[in-house]
Amino acid sequence: MPTSRPRIIVTRRLPEPVEERLIAEFDAEVNHGPPFDRAQLADAVQRCDALACTVTDRLDAEMIGQAGADLKLLANFGVGVDHIDLAAAAARGILVSNTPDVLTDDTADVTLALILGTLRGLGEGERVVRAGQWAGWGPRRQMGRSLTGKHLAIVGMGRIGLAVAARARACGMRIHYHNRRRVEGDQAFGATYWPDLDSMIEQADVLSLSCPYTAETHHLIDGARLRRMPADAFLINAARGAIVDQEALIAALERGEIAGAGLDVYPNEPHVDPRLIALPNVMLLPHLGSATVETRIAMGEKVVANISAWAKGEEMPDRV
Ligand code: DGY
Repeated sequence: MPTSRPRIIVTRRLPEPVEERLIAEFDAEVNHGPPFDRAQLADAVQRCDALACTVTDRLDAEMIGQAGADLKLLANFGVGVDHIDLAAAAARGILVSNTPDVLTDDTADVTLALILGTLRGLGEGERVVRAGQWAGWGPRRQMGRSLTGKHLAIVGMGRIGLAVAARARACGMRIHYHNRRRVEGDQAFGATYWPDLDSMIEQADVLSLSCPYTAETHHLIDGARLRRMPADAFLINAARGAIVDQEALIAALERGEIAGAGLDVYPNEPHVDPRLIALPNVMLLPHLGSATVETRIAMGEKVVANISAWAKGEEMPDRV
């Protein structure tokens, strides 16, 4: 249990109302500079009771090993906690919280935007107009693919996967999913459950990833699985970059083994491989799944609620 006014270090600027609450309610220090480098993060974990961190802070075992004795909570601003070594944190008695639910709809919206954007060539269309290269309407120009009737295969049918299914269903897509177990209520989407990922991939028009990044999902979509995709299929990733073997993806795209890809996440952010940038059939977004004013404030409010509960010695609403 910390003191009544615990020392919080906030690693990134958060939305203004969230920062105001953190400063009002705790002894909070907010980093106004660029994301912390390793030395700055090590300094932070040594001198706070709770760290309000984000996906850009790599809290691996080595970093957690440097934590001061007072550090008792990593309150993550985000639902994904793959940047935190949970076992190392647990071994040191450090709790971890995250911000589920509030970002589900916005992340699913961006996933749908990537599906629409890649199948309909929206990114390329916009680039053509902006470059002054649009030669006008033509019966054979800018032809994409319809969503209606296409088979959407979702990997990971948690909250975000379900929200993607609901949106895609409204667009007339047929829903398939692969998950550790069958999801209750999947018939609401007329969804087909595939215990075997490879069999599902072989009949997918669009393969969309909504699973967490873990040791098991590292390079889940590798060269062999990309080769199982039909040549006119699209890959969508708004989950985590390293779920896909990026080298294999680039090779598949360059060889025309799949039709295109829509990506919001990358293995080594913010670096985006120039070979992806060169491909017109790839839509590239800058990890903006949860990036709306409403959701970022709601995420921040969850961070505050988790820290408050922990500071009072209560059960945190979003303990990981
Ligand atoms: C999330 O919440 O996991 C987002 O990707 C940002 O970390």
